[in-house]
Amino acid sequence: MRIGVLTGGGDCPGLNAVIRAIVRKGASQHGWEFVGYWDGWRGPLENLTRPLDVADVRGILPRGGTILGSSRTNPLKVDGGAERIKENLAAAGVDALVAIGGEDTLGVAATLHDEHGIHVVAVPKTIDNDLSATDVTFGFDTAVNIAMEAIDRLHTTAESHHRALIVEVMGRHAGWIALHSGLAGGANVILIPEHPFSLEQVCDYVESRFRSQYAPIIVVAEGAVPDGGELALQDATTDAFGHVRLGGVGEWLARQVEQHTGKEARAIVLGHVQRGGTPSAFDRVLATRFGLHAVDAVHEGDWGSMVALHGTEIVRVRIHEATEQLKTVEPSRYAEAEVFFG
Ligand code: F6P
Repeated sequence: MRIGVLTGGGDCPGLNAVIRAIVRKGASQHGWEFVGYWDGWRGPLENLTRPLDVADVRGILPRGGTILGSSRTNPLKVDGGAERIKENLAAAGVDALVAIGGEDTLGVAATLHDEHGIHVVAVPKTIDNDLSATDVTFGFDTAVNIAMEAIDRLHTTAESHHRALIVEVMGRHAGWIALHSGLAGGANVILIPEHPFSLEQVCDYVESRFRSQYAPIIVVAEGAVPDGGELALQDATTDAFGHVRLGGVGEWLARQVEQHTGKEARAIVLGHVQRGGTPSAFDRVLATRFGLHAVDAVHEGDWGSMVALHGTEIVRVRIHEATEQLKTVEPSRYAEAEVFFG
C-alpha cells in the first residue's frame, strides 16, 4: 500500500512524533510506502509531495513544527477541490491518507470521506485542546507548560515593580490553555472565551491582590470578551475557514486596569511561543501512540475514523464526532479556578 500523510492548521509540538510513528510502524510491520504531502490540504490539492521513508523520519521525534509544512488551505472552498484531490491521489497511486489536524483540517477530512469516498484516517492535534471525542490532544501539554513557565517568571517582576501583569495566551473559542496555565502558575484572575468577564470585577480582584502585598497576574485567553461589551480588536481578514485573527485583549485590558485602579499594568502576549519548540514527554508519547494506532486503523480499512484518547486508552471514533462541536471549558471547571481569584 501507498499512504499519504499530511499536517494541516496551526503547527503543534508532537506533529513530527506522529509522522515518525506512522512511517516506522507502517514500513516495518506492513511494508507500506509513504508519500509526504506538503502544507496540509494544499499538498493533495496541488500535488505537492515529498519523499517520506524511514530515513526521512530519523531524528525528528523531539523537533517542534512539522517536517511536512502546514497551511490553512480549505479545498472545499476551491471549485472542484474534492474531485481534484481524489484524482491526484489516484494518479499518485495513493490508497489512503492520514490527515493530522484540528477542527478545520479534520472537518475537511470528514467531508472528503463521507461525501467523496476518500480513504482517510484522522489524528487529532491542537494546542487548544478543543476537539471533542478525545480527552486530550497532543501539543496542549507543551503549550500549557510554556505558558506556566512564563507566568512563573512574570510573578517576580510583577512583585518587584508592584505592577499588574496581564498574560495573553492562545485560545480562540476555548479557554483550556488559560485555565490550565493560570491554575498551574497561580494566576489571580483567569479570563476565558466561554465566560464573558466583568471589567469591574477584574479591577476589584486586582485591587484586592495589591492590598495583600502581592502583585496580580491576570491570564487572559485571546478570545475572552467583556460582558455586554465589544472589543474592536479583530483583524478583519479571515482565513479560508472563516476565522478572524485574534490578539489584543491583553493590551486593552492593561489600559483599562490602569485607568480604573491607578496601578501600572503591562500586557505580555505569548503568541506563537506557545506552539514552538520541543514537545513535552507527555505530548511525545501521546503523539507516538496516536501514530501507531492510526496505522492499525489504516491496516483494518477503518476509513473515516479518528484515533482518540479515552482515559489512558487509545480508541477510535468517527471523525465528525470530533469536529461537529468544540470542546469548551465547562462552568464547573471554571468555578474550580475562581476559588483562587483576587
Ligand atoms: O488553533 C491553534 C491556534 O494556535 C489558536 O490557538 C490560535 O487562535 C490560532 O491557532 C492562531 O493561528 P495562526 O498561527 O494562523 O495565526
